[in-house]
Amino acid sequence: MQKWIMSGLFFVACGLALVLMLSLPGKEQVAQENKPQMPEVTLSAEHAETVVATSCISCHGDQLEGNVGPNLQKIGAELSAEQLYAIINKGKGNMPAFKDRLKDEEIANVALWLAEKK
Ligand code: HEC
Repeated sequence: MQKWIMSGLFFVACGLALVLMLSLPGKEQVAQENKPQMPEVTLSAEHAETVVATSCISCHGDQLEGNVGPNLQKIGAELSAEQLYAIINKGKGNMPAFKDRLKDEEIANVALWLAEKK
């Protein structure tokens, strides 16, 4: 075989390998897809209280003291904003998922607000 064909093939193979390496998702990306990504929001306590009053207190009590759902008054000491965001998004046990009822930003804001409760 002629030398230039060999080296031509070699360069094409290298190019393909490079494209594959760049296009395959890295491990980090795969991990992020399994976990809902919390949007960045600036905490608005007022807005969080409104959302909680309409969506959460029926089960968690109007002082978040607990009812059907557990007490959330010191939940920020146990769970981070990201963990809270994931629970509100997907639900947990008998708690319904809120991803179709609230906007992502609203859930993130409530998560931030609850994370401050320590
Ligand atoms: C229909 C009743 C109901 C509603 C409405 C509800 N929850 Fe819950 N929630 C529960 C129950 C029941 C649990 C306990 C789930 C379990 O651990 O199995 C729970 C658990 C939680 C937890 C986890 C507590 C822990 O210690 O792990 C958080 C955080 C939470 N709820 C936040 C909220 C927020 C914020 C809202 C409003 C957006 C809300 N919940 C609305 C019933 C509800």
